[in-house]
Amino acid sequence: MTERLICGQVLRFAGDPFALPVAEAATIDSAGAVLVRDGLIARVGNAAALKAAHPQAEVSEMGEALILPGFVDAHVHYPQTAIIASWGKRLIDWLNSYTFPEEMRFADPAYAAETAARYLDLTLAEGTTTMCSYCTIHPASVEAFFAEAERRGQRVAGGKTCMDRNAPDGLRDTAQSAHDDSKALLEAWHGRGRITYAVTPRFSPTSSPEQLEALGALWAEHPDTLMQTHLSEQLDEIAWVRDLYPETRDYLDTYEQFGLIGPGALFGHAIHLEEREKDRLRESGSALVHCPTSNTFIGSGLFDMAGLKTAGHTIGLATDTGGGSSFSMLRTMAAAYEVGQLRGTPLHAAQLLWLATEGSARAMRMDDRIGALRPGMEADIIALDLASTPAIAQRAARAEDVWEQVFATIMLGDDRAVAAVWIGGEKRR
Ligand code: GUN
Ligand code: ZN
Repeated sequence: MTERLICGQVLRFAGDPFALPVAEAATIDSAGAVLVRDGLIARVGNAAALKAAHPQAEVSEMGEALILPGFVDAHVHYPQTAIIASWGKRLIDWLNSYTFPEEMRFADPAYAAETAARYLDLTLAEGTTTMCSYCTIHPASVEAFFAEAERRGQRVAGGKTCMDRNAPDGLRDTAQSAHDDSKALLEAWHGRGRITYAVTPRFSPTSSPEQLEALGALWAEHPDTLMQTHLSEQLDEIAWVRDLYPETRDYLDTYEQFGLIGPGALFGHAIHLEEREKDRLRESGSALVHCPTSNTFIGSGLFDMAGLKTAGHTIGLATDTGGGSSFSMLRTMAAAYEVGQLRGTPLHAAQLLWLATEGSARAMRMDDRIGALRPGMEADIIALDLASTPAIAQRAARAEDVWEQVFATIMLGDDRAVAAVWIGGEKRR
């Protein structure tokens, strides 16, 4: 039995820092340590005490680095890795000009495997250990993502993106094939090691009602899988949904009428919501996923984090690579802060870090396994250097408390701040 002790400034949450005062919800123990045994967190406490109690443990001394759970990115498109930062389009044109041509390339399983590996390398460097990814319509794109994550021992979720209309030739399935391919992938992969399947209709404009019905039936048969889709990202998109689904009450209803809401449902963006939609999302236990760099990059709008958290919604945070303009959850937290500022509701560093770890894990129904430093949780852990560049170091030197230092790294940090990453207790970076 090997034990490892990771020592540094350990961040822990006693509760949701949107629901409790930050001082009660979050603590940073400047002389803390996390004891890892058999891939799990065994104990969290004072470094000297844990060293004395476990003298045989291998010690990773991280100095003043912040020790926290690996980041959890609740909405990404790994197939869009190579088209991140594509200029000048809004949602529908961006999909047609950049996204669909790139996703077409995933008909080649070798290209899918190469991109999955590259994506997981890039995000490991950013300290992201879990993500919920869309794949493409090609089953091999899902196989490639899961196989690569399994090889690395990462807890990931993903699913075959389903589209049977309003997408180009070569990038459409049918209601039946979407159901059957998703079912076969789900049966092969869901619950295998650390893999979770997510039933994945891309969004209502690219699915017929028949396809949404078939996927709703599949999800009902496998309620412990996730369901991910997009909701109310841009106003043009909402108008298009109204044309395509004239009978429905609103955008959410296009999903709701086919059983595609409830615990385990992840709705990306969710910016321009009607009151009825907000109520149903909350009552049904569905999760919303805030993708701030995407929302500013594609020009979508300003997510109402403060209002929706106060109303009791479950909310995760995400890059939305590659509509989002970064692979980094640090950059994503910075953008969430800036969106909050534009709405007059700045978020505290503790709230940002909670969203990027436990919040996203909760949205993905994985908060019993990842997203927090607690005994029994899986040991996906990162160490953040709070003085990783001269610019950050000089600001951190002026800080009056550790939260000010942490905030400087959130706003200015990049992969250079990620000093170490452990996945399942194994050091990977
Ligand atoms: N809506 C439907 N598909 C997509 C996508 O790939 N990215 C974003 N940002 N929005 C979408
Ligand atoms: Zn998306």
